[in-house]
Amino acid sequence: MAIHNKSHHNHALMSLNKMRKDNTLKHKTAADFSNPDKTKICLNIMDCCDFLKAIPDNSVQLICIDPPYNLELADWDIYDNYIEWAAKWLDEAYRVLSMDGSMVIFGGIQFRDVKSGDLIDIIHYIRHNTKFKLINTIIWRYKNGMSAHRYFANRHEEVIWLAKSNDYYFDLDSVRVPYSEKELALALKDKRLNPENTMKGKNPTNVWEIGRLNGNSKERVGHPTQKPIEIIGRFVKALSYPGSVVLDFFAGSGTVGRVCITEGRHCLMCDSAITSIDYFNKHLELMKNLGQNTDYIEISSVDDFFTPIFQNSTTSAL
Ligand SMILES: C[S@@+](CC[C@H](N)C(=O)[O-])C[C@H]1O[C@@H](n2cnc3c(N)ncnc32)[C@H](O)[C@@H]1O
Repeated sequence: MAIHNKSHHNHALMSLNKMRKDNTLKHKTAADFSNPDKTKICLNIMDCCDFLKAIPDNSVQLICIDPPYNLELADWDIYDNYIEWAAKWLDEAYRVLSMDGSMVIFGGIQFRDVKSGDLIDIIHYIRHNTKFKLINTIIWRYKNGMSAHRYFANRHEEVIWLAKSNDYYFDLDSVRVPYSEKELALALKDKRLNPENTMKGKNPTNVWEIGRLNGNSKERVGHPTQKPIEIIGRFVKALSYPGSVVLDFFAGSGTVGRVCITEGRHCLMCDSAITSIDYFNKHLELMKNLGQNTDYIEISSVDDFFTPIFQNSTTSAL
């Protein structure tokens, strides 16, 4: 059943929105929140547009997606009119995002023929049809990749970070990169830098060098386009806070869900392929083998996902 504008009837959501209006989230960091006792995870197998319809307005802190681009990489990667289709979930994404929330979209510039889509098409649509603000384009650079003979071998992808307003939550401290001893000594002498921030580490900048997962990678669960935990973790830590809601409606193997369990965020996921469930179980198995916490509450529907979170506001940051 489609549920629209439920936020008007939900008291916990209303108080969350009031806190947001008071503009308090903008200046907070993860240290201002406590982790929920258990993360709530909902993974539904369905079409993303149907899944999105059930999500209340302004209820999601971070949307982190890695969409298909009509490149015919698999049977899930074929759409007749790419941007017409993408417009449906982009509009819904704007609706469900909180005023201080962010959306991250993985992609690339890979135009091959008129049917395929890419990040440029998405940016063009967003720029001319939505109120999203483009905060950063992150260059994800990697050293490992396919060789090429008819063009320069590709060694980067792009990821865009969009915000719904200028009051977006951003916890730089949680993703700062430590200085080496030598760099730190030099940085502390630099009069232009604030020594308190310098001690916390460097801004990772918008060029991130993180290896792609190759066939032998210990993180691999078998999904052909699985993303590394490190890159997803950086977005989840910087753009959402403990106890907030993260959404991935092209879940694939559920890497976003895996990171949310580790980082204490509640996570809503959907994917049109049933194989997602097996991939996600494989993630959990790998986490267990590494001695990581895999305790979470499995929620079967979007409706159930929101009701208990907001009723149980003492255990979550909401
Ligand atoms: C690029 S993959 C995501 C991989 C993921 N980031 C990971 O780390 O495993 C895109 C996913 O979108 C799913 N998909 C394609 N069309 C969809 C639709 N209309 N609704 C929901 N999921 C869809 C595919 O089944 C595929 O698993």
